[in-house]
Amino acid sequence: MILRRLPEALINRIAAGEVVERPAAAVKELVENAIDAGARHIDVTVADGGQTQITVTDDGSGMTPDELTLAIERHATSKLPDDDLIHIRHLGFRGEALPSIGAVSRLAITSRTADADEAWRLNVEAGRASAPVPAAHPTGTRVEVRDLFYATPARLKFMKTPRTEMNYVTETMKRLAMAHPGIGFTLGDGDRRRLDLAPEQGELFDARLNRLGAIMGRDFADNSVAINAEREGIRLTGHAGLPTHHRGNSAMQFLFVNGRPVNDRMLYGALRGAYRDFLASDRYPVVALFITAPPDGVDVNVHPAKTEVRFRDAALVRGLIVGGVKHALAEAGHRAATTVADAALGAARSGGSPFPMAGEAGFGSHPGLPSRGLAEDIQRYHAPLPGLGTAPAARVEAYQEIQSTAVAADYPLGVARGQLHATYIVAQTNDGIVIVDQHAAHERLVEERIKGALARDGVPRQGMLIPEVVELDEAAAGRLVERAGELAELGLVVEAFGPGAIMVRETPALLGETDIQGLIRDLADDLAELDEAISLRDRIGDVCATMACHGSVRAGRRLNGDEMNALLREMEATPHSGQCSHGRPTYVELKLHDIEKLFGRR
Ligand SMILES: Nc1ncnc2c1ncn2[C@@H]1O[C@H](COP(=O)(O)OP(=O)(O)OP(=O)(O)O)[C@@H](O)[C@H]1O
Ligand SMILES: [Mg+2]
Repeated sequence: MILRRLPEALINRIAAGEVVERPAAAVKELVENAIDAGARHIDVTVADGGQTQITVTDDGSGMTPDELTLAIERHATSKLPDDDLIHIRHLGFRGEALPSIGAVSRLAITSRTADADEAWRLNVEAGRASAPVPAAHPTGTRVEVRDLFYATPARLKFMKTPRTEMNYVTETMKRLAMAHPGIGFTLGDGDRRRLDLAPEQGELFDARLNRLGAIMGRDFADNSVAINAEREGIRLTGHAGLPTHHRGNSAMQFLFVNGRPVNDRMLYGALRGAYRDFLASDRYPVVALFITAPPDGVDVNVHPAKTEVRFRDAALVRGLIVGGVKHALAEAGHRAATTVADAALGAARSGGSPFPMAGEAGFGSHPGLPSRGLAEDIQRYHAPLPGLGTAPAARVEAYQEIQSTAVAADYPLGVARGQLHATYIVAQTNDGIVIVDQHAAHERLVEERIKGALARDGVPRQGMLIPEVVELDEAAAGRLVERAGELAELGLVVEAFGPGAIMVRETPALLGETDIQGLIRDLADDLAELDEAISLRDRIGDVCATMACHGSVRAGRRLNGDEMNALLREMEATPHSGQCSHGRPTYVELKLHDIEKLFGRR
């Protein structure tokens, strides 16, 4: 074996292995260069998922012929003017991207600065560069990459199908475009435009929300809250989806640090923490969050593709995310409902209507006339039953109407008008109807009350006249006894009662009359699934949900008018009451004008 220095072309090829893992990585490097060059418009075309051709055209600063020659040399960069790796202000800083790409493909760069009379063009083939020659091109730069990885056949073998690679390219572009709303972006694959994003004008929050809507879907704007928080010079902005707008995976979570899309475990973890109380653990919120930190507060030089960062004070950033998002969601606690109602209305309009409309298919042969079956139903409904009033008793039973002198206009959730199926409270608001799932709402209120009490002076307990014994299996009883101290903090006092049984002495006062047998059994089940290292306080949402299930306002219980209105007023006064602890809405609001649409009046 002979120890020797590797030739430059080979060094670059090795670097390319890290920097350009796949076509999307090449696109990322080239688009970042265009952003760094101050471009207002960046156009990208890609053929065969990037394998045969990638072209990135920008209207940025451009390069002189001398700069062109330097740009493709390793470790040549214009972005570290003071040799200062601490204060990085551009997306690039290593001077590695162009030489790496040039080492494994056929690269052509054409560029012109604003004050030059002509453009210059330079070619690199598998690392061998030609001298720049004059060419025609407007101010800006056009980089063309053909036959990516032809010089590294091993890497070529790892390419996925063009469609998959194209999807990676699209994802990469979307992320960069989200972070830079002021720049216009297009992406084409030869056949069609995959992205067409005009530069957004105006104030950052508006511009960004427009851009996010164009990429994440217009409904994101209606289903998210703006975030704007700051701690010790680190700023968190962006938009966080309402808990009711969740997804089954994290594909719609976009995180950025200083204009850079990042995939950072610490940041994802903080996000999970922020939503813990509002979402089931297998559901993911939709977010686009932007962290701006002073350059010396974050190290971006820790990952070859720069997709991870390291914060000087990670705990501070974590706290900022958890606090900022929670706070914004609390303020939006009552907003979950309209969008859910929209979805319901959408389903109704698109034919899945629970109230089929006259004239709709399936309503007999005479448009506008109810079918015979329905007409008979209606007649039967209106016909007085022998010995009763004017309506069939069976139907009235499910609806309990209440009279009230309260004025709907005074309350966001309106005034309770009745209860349906002993489960749903129907309230009238100023301009619509609110339907509350009393069980889900109660669950949320109990959780918030218990949390509030915990934070103040402990959860008030209510002693039982006769302690109740619950028979369980030995393991389940053991788990409860082990947690007895923690349960007592939450208002539930239990003790061992021989092997396999538990004696309950006190319950949380705010639960009211409690189904103790059911509660204890369910809690024992919860504990079986809970990691011993995790405290009940960390799982407070689940514990409270279980408690609420066995408290007094669960589904199936009749409420009187005062109880219903009390529930509505408490919901209004409670943060996060718009959704239960599993991300389901606790109420749905239908505005009058939506109801009119439903009936074709608008
Ligand atoms: N589209 C462009 N417009 C103007 N100048 C460019 C463009 N692309 C590259 N350059 C110039 O070429 C240099 C080298 O680019 P390259 O991407 O290789 O390195 P970098 O961006 O400085 O750092 P990094 O390797 O971290 O991306 C840049 O520093 C910049 O001066
Ligand atoms: Mg670069």
